[in-house]
Amino acid sequence: MERRQFRAPRGIRDVLPEEIPAWRLLEETARGLAHLRGYREIRPALLEEVELFTRSVGEVTDIVQKEMFTLQKGESALALRPEGTAGIVRAYLEAGYASAAPLQRLFHIGPMFRYERPQKGRERMFTQFDVEVLGSLDPRLDAEVVFLAAAFFESVAIKIKVPGFRIERGELEVRMNSMGDGDDRNRWKEAVRSFLAPTMAEHCELCRARFERNVLRVLDCKNPRCKELNAGAPAILEYLSAENRAHFERVQEYLRVLGLPVVIDSSIVRGLDYYTRTVFEVHAPALGARSALCGGGRYDHLIAELGGPELGAVGFAVGFTSTLLLLNELKRIDPKETVFDEIPALVFVVGAGEGLESEVFRLAEDLRKNEISAVYDVEQRSLKAQMKLAGKGGHRYAVVLGGEELARGSVQLKELQNGEQHELPRAGIVAHLRAREV
Ligand code: HAM
Repeated sequence: MERRQFRAPRGIRDVLPEEIPAWRLLEETARGLAHLRGYREIRPALLEEVELFTRSVGEVTDIVQKEMFTLQKGESALALRPEGTAGIVRAYLEAGYASAAPLQRLFHIGPMFRYERPQKGRERMFTQFDVEVLGSLDPRLDAEVVFLAAAFFESVAIKIKVPGFRIERGELEVRMNSMGDGDDRNRWKEAVRSFLAPTMAEHCELCRARFERNVLRVLDCKNPRCKELNAGAPAILEYLSAENRAHFERVQEYLRVLGLPVVIDSSIVRGLDYYTRTVFEVHAPALGARSALCGGGRYDHLIAELGGPELGAVGFAVGFTSTLLLLNELKRIDPKETVFDEIPALVFVVGAGEGLESEVFRLAEDLRKNEISAVYDVEQRSLKAQMKLAGKGGHRYAVVLGGEELARGSVQLKELQNGEQHELPRAGIVAHLRAREV
């Protein structure tokens, strides 16, 4: 058979070791902020029944209609999860939390899959930092999660070790809206439909399809002509019931308490069906049309919809793809410049002379056993070439083992930055390195 080289499927990419420090920065920032607020990590399934998503995300959403990676195995129709909320609610109910301990603050970091047209900031496999608080209707929780989302972006920028790097005011915007709930939402939908109907023929094809399937999605169109036609559409805020209006006002009040500025934007309608009341997105205008870094909101009927009791819930997901894009776009970091430090092994074990392969091998493993990171040459290079390699690799020390040292039960320790070298007993090397590294 002819040999061929494979490439990752379209829209799917690897995170290579060079990129790992940036990824860890995002992951560790997310974890740290979540733990500080009492959120516990959950790792829900990657595969779920297709029906879980048609029921929750919504049958007439883009995600369910066009974007799910599905597979049929035997009797079951499964899908790679396109988002995290539905699976987390499923896991919450299956684990019995709804009755045992209904208030759960949960987070997850992991890959999601959507069969979208790959473009800048959009991939078919992408990672989200997903945060969900289940079991309460308290408006403080809406404010808590919005604040957590904003804190994530600020902290990432603060932790980047480039002098002066931070996200300036205006580079990120938290946009918030209420989707209402029940009657007020239905009245709003009807008003939007009546407003749009006369100009529908002038809208783009996608809008015309959305008008039939899910009229609110028309308001989300990015096409400039459609945006013009949508201007002046009825805003939900005029239709909100007294109770839902009060909830929305309290969320804003709590955000003022925390000092987070938000923009009320009636065009935020979200692309998933489960939302009720508060919805929000974090945008980076620098990224243009695809500027959403994060989206979320309240989903007060989803737990019941999936077979549980009537319990409120609110959450969001940050996309790592667009976050990394923003960090690069702001031109303050060059991904190839190591602002995120990759840490090379502390020690390069060098064999000086022939026939020392086993000794070098054993010494490296001895160091590792003692929590000292170590690597060695596997190409039978000359002493000089090994020393050069050790220097280029960014290691702190070369531990050189030659025939004479072996006979004396010692090694040469060379500090690679300043070239200082001395001999020390092989049995003392671990203690010596530990003493110098603390
Ligand atoms: P979403 O708005 O569909 O919401 O996705 C959230 C974020 O994930 C987006 O703002 C974007 O940054 C990122 N994202 C979405 N699709 C892609 C893609 N194809 N490639 C790269 N990044 C992408 C949700 O997923 C909800 N589950 C959020 C939520 C949690 N609502 C309540 N709780």
